[in-house]
Amino acid sequence: MSRRTRPVVPAAPLTWEARIDNYARVTGFPRSLFLDENGCVVGTWIMGNDYRVKSAYYGGYPAGYLRRMRALFPDKRRVLHLFSGRVDLDAFPGDTVDINPACEPTYLDDAQRLEHVPLEEYDLVLADPPYSVEDADHYNTTMVKRNLVMRALRRLPVGAHVVWLDQVLPMYRRDAFAQEAVIGMWKSTNHRFRGITIFRRRDAAPSRIVARAAGAPPASPA
Ligand SMILES: C[S@@+](CC[C@H](N)C(=O)[O-])C[C@H]1O[C@@H](n2cnc3c(N)ncnc32)[C@H](O)[C@@H]1O
Repeated sequence: MSRRTRPVVPAAPLTWEARIDNYARVTGFPRSLFLDENGCVVGTWIMGNDYRVKSAYYGGYPAGYLRRMRALFPDKRRVLHLFSGRVDLDAFPGDTVDINPACEPTYLDDAQRLEHVPLEEYDLVLADPPYSVEDADHYNTTMVKRNLVMRALRRLPVGAHVVWLDQVLPMYRRDAFAQEAVIGMWKSTNHRFRGITIFRRRDAAPSRIVARAAGAPPASPA
């Protein structure tokens, strides 16, 4: 079977308690993530004063972000960096998607469509879109429509996670994604606050959702 058609083999899913335990053990950072009464993970990351971006790319992940994420998702085998820029693949290996050819991504594609990306092969997507029109100007792109990105991501396999770093919660379909975690991220003074939302691709009526995501007309009304 070619690499392109190989489906993700679902591993036994880790519980969020196990993810948080692994995060604390591997990073040595304080336990700042907790399960609330509804089973949603809530927390805060204080990133400290190390605001350097290794690549010096505008809007690049702050130091330590990818190490924290990797510790939360030790079970993931096929990772896709969406809006990848010059992401540090030593810190968290994976494939990349960007619209800018100068970034030399694995897939040169528009995140709002992801037509060239075999999403069914991935079990974790780390998304870092431009947060505003002003940010998009830095990349010579138009501002992304977040709901279109989330729609394209419905082609992910059930159980895949999407980690979305932004200043806005993207619109998404609740029958396609479950919101499992929210983490506030603080950097040093004079840096914007950001929020991390972690979604899991859920299995409610997946065939209908995928058909719609691919542009098929909706099934006849029940
Ligand atoms: C905030 S930066 C990501 C930086 C990255 N996390 C890093 O550590 O280098 C946003 C990226 O989104 C890309 N981008 C903007 N619009 C896009 C689109 N419609 N589809 C794919 N990539 C896009 C830009 O080229 C830019 O590289």
